[in-house]
Amino acid sequence: MKHRLKSILCPVVVTAMLLCMAVACGTTSIEENSNTVEEEMIEKEPIVVGFSQLGAESDWRSANTQSMKSSFTGLDGYTMIFDDGQQKQANQIMAIRKFIQQEVDYIVLAPVTENGWDTVLQEAKDANIPVIIVDRRVNVEDESLFVCWIGSDFELEAQKATEWLHQYAENKKIPAQDIHIVNIQGTLGASAQIGRTKGLQDAAEKYGWDLLAEVTGDFTQTKGKEVMKSLLQEYDNINVVYCENDNEALGAIEALEEAGKKVGSNLINGEVMVISFDGINEKARSYVQEGKISCIAECNPLLGPLVRVAIDTVESGGVPNKYYYVNEEIFSANPNITSVTVDKKEYPVTIVAK
Ligand code: AHR
Repeated sequence: MKHRLKSILCPVVVTAMLLCMAVACGTTSIEENSNTVEEEMIEKEPIVVGFSQLGAESDWRSANTQSMKSSFTGLDGYTMIFDDGQQKQANQIMAIRKFIQQEVDYIVLAPVTENGWDTVLQEAKDANIPVIIVDRRVNVEDESLFVCWIGSDFELEAQKATEWLHQYAENKKIPAQDIHIVNIQGTLGASAQIGRTKGLQDAAEKYGWDLLAEVTGDFTQTKGKEVMKSLLQEYDNINVVYCENDNEALGAIEALEEAGKKVGSNLINGEVMVISFDGINEKARSYVQEGKISCIAECNPLLGPLVRVAIDTVESGGVPNKYYYVNEEIFSANPNITSVTVDKKEYPVTIVAK
Protein backbone atom coordinates (compact mmCIF):
# COMPACT_ATOMS: atom_id res chain seq x y z
CA MET A 1 0.00 0.00 0.00
CA LYS A 2 3.02 2.25 0.19
CA HIS A 3 2.99 2.85 -3.59
CA ARG A 4 -0.45 4.17 -4.07
CA LEU A 5 -0.29 5.15 -7.74
CA LYS A 6 -1.28 2.27 -9.92
CA SER A 7 -1.22 2.66 -13.68
CA ILE A 8 -3.87 1.36 -15.98
CA LEU A 9 -3.10 0.97 -19.65
CA CYS A 10 -6.16 2.12 -21.53
CA PRO A 11 -7.14 0.55 -24.87
CA VAL A 12 -5.86 3.47 -26.94
CA VAL A 13 -2.43 3.12 -25.36
CA VAL A 14 -2.35 -0.62 -26.01
CA THR A 15 -3.32 -0.05 -29.64
CA ALA A 16 -0.61 2.57 -30.01
CA MET A 17 1.96 0.24 -28.46
CA LEU A 18 1.03 -2.59 -30.82
CA LEU A 19 1.27 -0.22 -33.74
CA CYS A 20 4.67 0.91 -32.49
CA MET A 21 5.88 -2.67 -32.39
CA ALA A 22 4.50 -3.32 -35.85
CA VAL A 23 6.27 -0.21 -37.16
CA ALA A 24 9.48 -1.37 -35.56
CA CYS A 25 9.12 -4.68 -37.41
CA GLY A 26 8.50 -2.84 -40.67
CA THR A 27 5.18 -4.58 -41.28
CA THR A 28 2.96 -1.48 -41.63
CA SER A 29 2.82 1.76 -43.54
CA ILE A 30 0.85 3.75 -40.93
CA GLU A 31 2.26 7.27 -40.49
CA GLU A 32 4.67 7.80 -37.59
CA ASN A 33 2.65 10.54 -35.86
CA SER A 34 -0.15 8.04 -35.15
CA ASN A 35 2.26 6.16 -32.90
CA THR A 36 2.87 9.03 -30.52
CA VAL A 37 0.02 8.30 -28.08
CA GLU A 38 1.79 7.58 -24.83
CA GLU A 39 -0.70 8.74 -22.24
CA GLU A 40 -1.14 6.58 -19.24
CA MET A 41 -4.25 6.83 -17.17
CA ILE A 42 -3.26 7.06 -13.53
CA GLU A 43 -5.67 5.87 -10.88
CA LYS A 44 -5.10 6.57 -7.18
CA GLU A 45 -5.42 3.73 -4.72
CA PRO A 46 -7.20 4.62 -1.48
CA ILE A 47 -5.25 6.01 1.43
CA VAL A 48 -5.30 3.30 4.09
CA VAL A 49 -5.56 4.40 7.72
CA GLY A 50 -5.00 1.92 10.54
CA PHE A 51 -6.95 3.12 13.58
CA SER A 52 -6.15 1.71 17.00
CA GLN A 53 -9.09 2.67 19.21
CA LEU A 54 -8.55 2.04 22.91
CA GLY A 55 -11.88 0.40 23.63
CA ALA A 56 -15.63 0.89 23.98
CA GLU A 57 -15.98 1.89 27.62
CA SER A 58 -18.33 4.86 27.22
CA ASP A 59 -20.87 6.58 24.98
CA TRP A 60 -18.20 9.15 24.22
CA ARG A 61 -15.97 6.36 22.91
CA SER A 62 -18.74 4.95 20.69
CA ALA A 63 -19.37 8.41 19.24
CA ASN A 64 -15.65 8.85 18.66
CA THR A 65 -15.37 5.49 16.87
CA GLN A 66 -18.39 6.38 14.75
CA SER A 67 -16.90 9.75 13.83
CA MET A 68 -13.66 8.09 12.74
CA LYS A 69 -15.39 5.34 10.79
CA SER A 70 -17.65 7.73 8.93
CA SER A 71 -14.68 9.89 7.95
CA PHE A 72 -12.86 6.95 6.37
CA THR A 73 -15.56 4.92 4.63
CA GLY A 74 -13.63 3.60 1.66
CA LEU A 75 -15.94 5.56 -0.67
CA ASP A 76 -13.92 8.66 -1.37
CA GLY A 77 -10.29 7.73 -1.46
CA TYR A 78 -9.81 6.87 2.21
CA THR A 79 -10.28 3.54 3.88
CA MET A 80 -9.79 2.39 7.45
CA ILE A 81 -8.66 -0.74 9.24
CA PHE A 82 -10.17 -0.57 12.71
CA ASP A 83 -8.86 -2.28 15.82
CA ASP A 84 -10.46 -2.23 19.29
CA GLY A 85 -7.77 -2.42 21.97
CA GLN A 86 -10.27 -3.42 24.70
CA GLN A 87 -8.66 -1.09 27.24
CA LYS A 88 -5.30 -2.86 27.01
CA GLN A 89 -2.16 -1.08 25.88
CA ALA A 90 -0.62 -4.44 24.88
CA ASN A 91 -3.47 -4.95 22.38
CA GLN A 92 -2.93 -1.47 20.96
CA ILE A 93 0.80 -2.11 20.55
CA MET A 94 0.00 -5.37 18.75
CA ALA A 95 -2.45 -3.54 16.47
CA ILE A 96 0.16 -0.93 15.56
CA ARG A 97 2.69 -3.64 14.72
CA LYS A 98 0.11 -5.32 12.51
CA PHE A 99 -0.61 -2.02 10.74
CA ILE A 100 3.12 -1.69 10.08
CA GLN A 101 3.21 -5.19 8.56
CA GLN A 102 0.19 -4.33 6.45
CA GLU A 103 2.03 -1.23 5.21
CA VAL A 104 -0.85 1.14 5.92
CA ASP A 105 -0.36 4.74 4.83
CA TYR A 106 -1.18 6.33 8.22
CA ILE A 107 -1.63 5.11 11.76
CA VAL A 108 -4.12 6.85 14.03
CA LEU A 109 -3.79 6.03 17.71
CA ALA A 110 -6.25 6.81 20.52
CA PRO A 111 -4.02 5.69 23.41
CA VAL A 112 -5.52 4.20 26.56
CA THR A 113 -2.86 5.76 28.80
CA GLU A 114 0.00 8.18 28.19
CA ASN A 115 3.18 6.21 28.93
CA GLY A 116 4.97 3.36 27.16
CA TRP A 117 4.61 4.25 23.48
CA ASP A 118 8.21 5.15 22.55
CA THR A 119 9.28 1.78 21.14
CA VAL A 120 6.29 1.02 18.96
CA LEU A 121 6.03 4.58 17.64
CA GLN A 122 9.73 4.42 16.76
CA GLU A 123 8.94 1.24 14.79
CA ALA A 124 6.22 3.11 12.88
CA LYS A 125 8.61 5.97 12.21
CA ASP A 126 11.30 3.56 10.97
CA ALA A 127 8.70 2.14 8.59
CA ASN A 128 7.97 5.70 7.36
CA ILE A 129 4.35 5.58 8.48
CA PRO A 130 3.11 8.90 9.85
CA VAL A 131 1.25 8.58 13.17
CA ILE A 132 -1.58 10.85 14.31
CA ILE A 133 -2.59 10.75 17.98
CA VAL A 134 -6.21 11.47 18.87
CA ASP A 135 -8.09 12.14 22.11
CA ARG A 136 -5.65 11.22 24.92
CA ARG A 137 -1.98 12.00 24.63
CA VAL A 138 1.22 9.99 24.50
CA ASN A 139 4.12 10.85 26.75
CA VAL A 140 7.17 10.18 24.55
CA GLU A 141 10.73 11.47 24.73
CA ASP A 142 10.90 12.26 21.02
CA GLU A 143 7.91 14.24 19.81
CA SER A 144 8.87 13.60 16.19
CA LEU A 145 7.44 10.10 16.68
CA PHE A 146 4.02 11.52 15.86
CA VAL A 147 2.91 14.07 13.30
CA CYS A 148 0.25 15.72 15.42
CA TRP A 149 -2.25 15.30 18.22
CA ILE A 150 -5.95 16.23 18.01
CA GLY A 151 -8.18 16.27 21.08
CA SER A 152 -9.50 18.04 24.17
CA ASP A 153 -7.95 20.26 26.79
CA PHE A 154 -8.93 18.04 29.72
CA GLU A 155 -7.54 20.34 32.37
CA LEU A 156 -9.42 23.30 30.94
CA GLU A 157 -12.62 21.23 31.01
CA ALA A 158 -12.00 20.63 34.71
CA GLN A 159 -11.23 24.28 35.35
CA LYS A 160 -14.53 25.29 33.74
CA ALA A 161 -16.47 22.74 35.81
CA THR A 162 -14.78 23.73 39.07
CA GLU A 163 -15.26 27.44 38.37
CA TRP A 164 -18.93 26.69 37.87
CA LEU A 165 -19.01 25.00 41.30
CA HIS A 166 -17.12 27.91 42.84
CA GLN A 167 -19.62 30.43 41.48
CA TYR A 168 -22.51 28.28 42.61
CA ALA A 169 -21.15 28.08 46.15
CA GLU A 170 -20.48 31.83 46.20
CA ASN A 171 -23.98 32.65 44.95
CA LYS A 172 -25.53 30.42 47.62
CA LYS A 173 -23.07 31.60 50.27
CA ILE A 174 -21.97 28.04 51.03
CA PRO A 175 -18.68 28.13 52.98
CA ALA A 176 -15.81 26.31 51.25
CA GLN A 177 -15.30 23.93 54.16
CA ASP A 178 -18.91 22.74 53.74
CA ILE A 179 -18.23 21.46 50.23
CA HIS A 180 -17.42 17.75 50.66
CA ILE A 181 -16.36 16.25 47.35
CA VAL A 182 -15.61 12.76 46.11
CA ASN A 183 -13.93 12.29 42.74
CA ILE A 184 -14.83 9.22 40.68
CA GLN A 185 -11.82 9.28 38.41
CA GLY A 186 -11.35 7.94 34.92
CA THR A 187 -8.84 5.29 33.89
CA LEU A 188 -5.68 6.07 35.84
CA GLY A 189 -2.86 7.33 33.63
CA ALA A 190 -5.22 8.47 30.83
CA SER A 191 -4.90 12.13 29.86
CA ALA A 192 -8.60 12.72 30.52
CA GLN A 193 -8.13 11.44 34.08
CA ILE A 194 -4.88 13.31 34.66
CA GLY A 195 -6.26 16.67 33.49
CA ARG A 196 -9.63 16.38 35.21
CA THR A 197 -8.13 15.17 38.50
CA LYS A 198 -5.56 17.95 38.46
CA GLY A 199 -8.18 20.59 37.74
CA LEU A 200 -10.21 19.47 40.75
CA GLN A 201 -7.23 19.15 43.08
CA ASP A 202 -6.05 22.66 42.18
CA ALA A 203 -9.50 24.15 42.72
CA ALA A 204 -9.99 22.31 46.03
CA GLU A 205 -6.70 23.72 47.23
CA LYS A 206 -7.41 27.21 45.92
CA TYR A 207 -10.89 27.49 47.40
CA GLY A 208 -10.45 25.29 50.48
CA TRP A 209 -12.97 22.61 49.56
CA ASP A 210 -12.91 19.29 51.39
CA LEU A 211 -11.76 16.70 48.83
CA LEU A 212 -12.68 13.50 50.65
CA ALA A 213 -11.61 10.81 48.21
CA GLU A 214 -10.40 10.01 44.70
CA VAL A 215 -11.21 6.54 43.36
CA THR A 216 -11.11 5.31 39.79
CA GLY A 217 -14.35 4.34 38.08
CA ASP A 218 -12.60 3.49 34.79
CA PHE A 219 -14.96 5.73 32.81
CA THR A 220 -17.73 3.09 33.00
CA GLN A 221 -21.25 3.16 34.38
CA THR A 222 -20.89 -0.15 36.24
CA LYS A 223 -17.71 0.89 37.99
CA GLY A 224 -19.10 4.37 38.67
CA LYS A 225 -22.01 2.80 40.53
CA GLU A 226 -19.83 0.33 42.41
CA VAL A 227 -17.42 3.07 43.54
CA MET A 228 -20.24 5.40 44.60
CA LYS A 229 -21.79 2.64 46.69
CA SER A 230 -18.60 2.04 48.60
CA LEU A 231 -17.91 5.78 49.02
CA LEU A 232 -21.36 6.18 50.56
CA GLN A 233 -20.48 3.49 53.08
CA GLU A 234 -17.27 5.23 53.95
CA TYR A 235 -18.41 8.88 54.13
CA ASP A 236 -21.72 10.24 55.39
CA ASN A 237 -21.14 13.88 54.44
CA ILE A 238 -20.62 13.73 50.67
CA ASN A 239 -22.48 16.58 48.99
CA VAL A 240 -20.64 16.88 45.66
CA VAL A 241 -19.82 13.96 43.35
CA TYR A 242 -17.37 14.90 40.63
CA CYS A 243 -17.47 12.22 37.95
CA GLU A 244 -14.78 12.23 35.28
CA ASN A 245 -17.32 11.22 32.62
CA ASP A 246 -21.07 10.91 32.10
CA ASN A 247 -21.19 7.12 32.24
CA GLU A 248 -19.71 7.20 35.71
CA ALA A 249 -22.21 9.92 36.62
CA LEU A 250 -25.13 7.73 35.51
CA GLY A 251 -23.79 4.88 37.65
CA ALA A 252 -23.18 7.18 40.62
CA ILE A 253 -26.71 8.62 40.40
CA GLU A 254 -28.15 5.09 40.45
CA ALA A 255 -26.16 4.31 43.59
CA LEU A 256 -27.12 7.60 45.26
CA GLU A 257 -30.81 7.14 44.55
CA GLU A 258 -30.75 3.51 45.66
CA ALA A 259 -29.22 4.75 48.92
CA GLY A 260 -32.17 7.15 49.32
CA LYS A 261 -30.25 10.34 48.48
CA LYS A 262 -31.83 13.17 46.54
CA VAL A 263 -29.64 14.19 43.61
CA GLY A 264 -29.64 17.89 42.72
CA SER A 265 -27.91 21.18 43.36
CA ASN A 266 -29.74 22.25 46.51
CA LEU A 267 -26.89 21.44 48.88
CA ILE A 268 -28.43 23.51 51.65
CA ASN A 269 -31.45 21.19 51.61
CA GLY A 270 -29.29 18.09 51.69
CA GLU A 271 -29.20 17.26 47.98
CA VAL A 272 -26.08 15.70 46.48
CA MET A 273 -24.68 17.60 43.51
CA VAL A 274 -23.30 15.68 40.52
CA ILE A 275 -20.82 17.30 38.11
CA SER A 276 -19.66 15.50 35.01
CA PHE A 277 -17.85 15.55 31.64
CA ASP A 278 -18.70 14.66 28.02
CA GLY A 279 -22.27 15.72 27.14
CA ILE A 280 -22.85 13.17 24.39
CA ASN A 281 -25.02 10.65 26.27
CA GLU A 282 -28.75 11.37 25.81
CA LYS A 283 -29.69 10.35 29.34
CA ALA A 284 -26.95 12.49 30.86
CA ARG A 285 -28.15 15.46 28.82
CA SER A 286 -31.71 14.93 29.99
CA TYR A 287 -30.40 14.71 33.57
CA VAL A 288 -28.93 18.19 33.10
CA GLN A 289 -32.40 19.46 32.13
CA GLU A 290 -33.89 17.76 35.20
CA GLY A 291 -31.14 19.16 37.42
CA LYS A 292 -29.83 15.72 38.42
CA ILE A 293 -26.50 16.61 36.85
CA SER A 294 -25.74 20.20 37.79
CA CYS A 295 -23.22 20.86 35.07
CA ILE A 296 -21.36 19.01 32.34
CA ALA A 297 -18.11 20.24 30.85
CA GLU A 298 -18.27 19.06 27.27
CA CYS A 299 -15.70 16.69 25.79
CA ASN A 300 -16.08 16.64 22.03
CA PRO A 301 -15.71 13.17 20.44
CA LEU A 302 -16.15 14.21 16.78
CA LEU A 303 -12.51 13.99 15.78
CA GLY A 304 -12.78 12.05 12.50
CA PRO A 305 -13.12 15.04 10.13
CA LEU A 306 -10.18 16.77 11.84
CA VAL A 307 -8.00 13.70 11.37
CA ARG A 308 -8.90 13.77 7.69
CA VAL A 309 -7.86 17.39 7.41
CA ALA A 310 -4.53 16.52 9.06
CA ILE A 311 -3.96 13.66 6.61
CA ASP A 312 -4.87 15.87 3.65
CA THR A 313 -2.39 18.45 4.89
CA VAL A 314 0.37 15.84 5.00
CA GLU A 315 -0.67 14.45 1.61
CA SER A 316 -0.34 17.89 0.05
CA GLY A 317 3.12 18.36 1.54
CA GLY A 318 2.08 20.53 4.48
CA VAL A 319 2.67 20.19 8.21
CA PRO A 320 -0.40 20.13 10.48
CA ASN A 321 -0.36 21.99 13.81
CA LYS A 322 1.41 19.79 16.33
CA TYR A 323 -1.40 20.18 18.90
CA TYR A 324 -4.98 20.90 17.86
CA TYR A 325 -7.59 21.50 20.57
CA VAL A 326 -11.27 21.06 19.77
CA ASN A 327 -13.82 23.63 20.91
CA GLU A 328 -15.95 22.61 23.86
CA GLU A 329 -18.88 24.04 25.79
CA ILE A 330 -20.23 23.79 29.30
CA PHE A 331 -23.88 22.86 29.95
CA SER A 332 -26.15 23.56 32.90
CA ALA A 333 -29.83 24.22 33.59
CA ASN A 334 -28.99 26.83 36.22
CA PRO A 335 -29.88 30.22 34.68
CA ASN A 336 -27.85 32.20 37.21
CA ILE A 337 -24.39 31.17 36.06
CA THR A 338 -24.05 32.39 32.50
CA SER A 339 -20.29 32.18 32.11
CA VAL A 340 -17.16 30.97 33.86
CA THR A 341 -13.75 32.58 33.75
CA VAL A 342 -10.53 30.58 33.56
CA ASP A 343 -7.13 32.30 33.27
CA LYS A 344 -8.89 35.61 32.58
CA LYS A 345 -10.79 34.11 29.63
CA GLU A 346 -14.56 34.00 29.81
CA TYR A 347 -16.42 30.90 28.62
CA PRO A 348 -20.20 31.15 28.16
CA VAL A 349 -22.32 28.48 29.85
CA THR A 350 -24.93 26.93 27.55
CA ILE A 351 -28.10 27.06 29.61
CA VAL A 352 -30.15 23.94 28.91
CA ALA A 353 -33.90 24.59 29.00
CA LYS A 354 -35.71 22.63 31.72
O1 AHR B 1 -10.52 10.45 26.73
C1 AHR B 1 -11.82 10.93 26.66
C2 AHR B 1 -12.64 10.29 27.73
O2 AHR B 1 -12.62 8.90 27.55
C3 AHR B 1 -14.10 10.66 27.77
O3 AHR B 1 -14.39 11.70 28.63
C4 AHR B 1 -14.67 9.42 28.34
O4 AHR B 1 -16.05 9.33 28.30
C5 AHR B 1 -13.93 8.41 27.57
O5 AHR B 1 -14.11 7.15 27.93
